[in-house]
Amino acid sequence: MPLEIVVGTQWGDEGKGRIVDLLAKRADLVVRYNGGDNAGHTVTVDEHTFKLHLIPSGVIHAHTFGVLGNGMVINPATLIKEMDMLRSAGVEINPQRLSLSYAAHLITPMHQALDRAQEISRGQGQIGTTGRGIGPAYADKASRRGLRVQDMLDGDALCEKLRQHIREGNLWLERLYGAQPLDEHSVVEEYSAYAATLRPYISDGGAMVWKALSEGKCILAEGAQGTLLDLDFGTYPYVTSSNPTAAGALLGMGIGAVPAKCVIGITKAFQTRVGEGPFPTELSGEMAGRLRGTGANPWDEFGTTTGRPRRVGWLDGVLLRYAVRTNGLTELTLTKLDILSGLPHIHFCTSYTTPSGQSFDDLPYGPADLSDFSPVYEELPGWQEDVSRVRRWDDLPAPAREYIRRIEAVSGVPVRRISVGPERDQVIEIES
Ligand code: GDP
Ligand code: IMO
Ligand code: MG
Repeated sequence: MPLEIVVGTQWGDEGKGRIVDLLAKRADLVVRYNGGDNAGHTVTVDEHTFKLHLIPSGVIHAHTFGVLGNGMVINPATLIKEMDMLRSAGVEINPQRLSLSYAAHLITPMHQALDRAQEISRGQGQIGTTGRGIGPAYADKASRRGLRVQDMLDGDALCEKLRQHIREGNLWLERLYGAQPLDEHSVVEEYSAYAATLRPYISDGGAMVWKALSEGKCILAEGAQGTLLDLDFGTYPYVTSSNPTAAGALLGMGIGAVPAKCVIGITKAFQTRVGEGPFPTELSGEMAGRLRGTGANPWDEFGTTTGRPRRVGWLDGVLLRYAVRTNGLTELTLTKLDILSGLPHIHFCTSYTTPSGQSFDDLPYGPADLSDFSPVYEELPGWQEDVSRVRRWDDLPAPAREYIRRIEAVSGVPVRRISVGPERDQVIEIES
């Protein structure tokens, strides 16, 4: 079946949007299957830099059809803004090109207020969420009191559900968190207007994907976040509230256990994390600043959604192997190789060790906190050449090829594609 799944193998921001844009050349349908506007996927096309939070990155190509899957949580204000942004950049957005799954859930201002209040109440133990209401919206979904996109089809029912939702949420805000309540009427008014705008886009995303598959069309599934932020497989509780891993793709697109042609793990040549939580290979000081950048380049490591500086570190092979297992990865795409140019050495973590001298090749289960596990590094030679203009494997400096071969050996998965810059043509395809 021509289904290709794109997942992040780290803590997000691996360059998924940029690679989905690249792969969308050969796709008919591009489906975002999880998360909400906590995601920020940046795609550079000539003079345009698109920062997408909800709409699948593949829709920038004129021939594709985009689906916002049932596994997503939708902030309608963000969605409408994003549609307008794309239109003003010349991308056609209409119901013939984009569909919003009826079973996706809605994010409301109450979810955002609760997200912020819950973060404050966590004190030292805060997660560092994006404050977009993601956790509370998925919690409402699991508690069976959420608002679904389909509720926008019936104006009166939507108003009634919203009123109840705000009244109930205000009890939590005021009584539990000592926060300001929200005004029921303004939320109802706001959401009635959003419903009128979005109604023509609502349809059955899962049925669309199924039909496209049965017609032999090529489906590209775009994940948000990354494996280590997965609700089940990530570094819990420092995770998001959805399933960015490959199994989440099937559920979040609305199909069953359809075999995928490939599961492509997007892996940055080093590693980053926004927010709190363990990060065994984290760097500080000069090297961290060197990998993060100053913010002068659009690709420097500052959050697309919140602008927060990302924590940075060396690539962690233990976590990469874990991502291979939890996603069933069939291939890797390595991004941002260009950023490593000019370093004297590259460090690559291949196992962990504990203070008692115990060695771990795989992620130990049990501890939420990985502070007892120190990375064991291989030190590999760096390269000085700028690789951003390289388009062929053979033209890469020998140490860069050596690093990639080590990544393949440690992960057990072939690297099929290397990104050396944010532009569409800055890629090296590797034939099998
Ligand atoms: P996503 O959330 O996984 O889609 O990743 P983000 O878009 O948040 O972050 C990736 C950033 O790096 C974006 O600004 C991309 O344009 C940029 N980028 C992607 N691949 C490369 C690459 O190979 N080299 C450089 N220099 N930038 C890249
Ligand atoms: P993309 O798709 C990086 C992080 C937040 C926080 C944790 C929980 O661009 O890779 P949430 O708001 O989801 O409840 O926050 O998850 N986080 C991301 N980090 N990239 C993302 O998305 C993220 N989406 C959420 O920083 O640590
Ligand atoms: Mg991002």
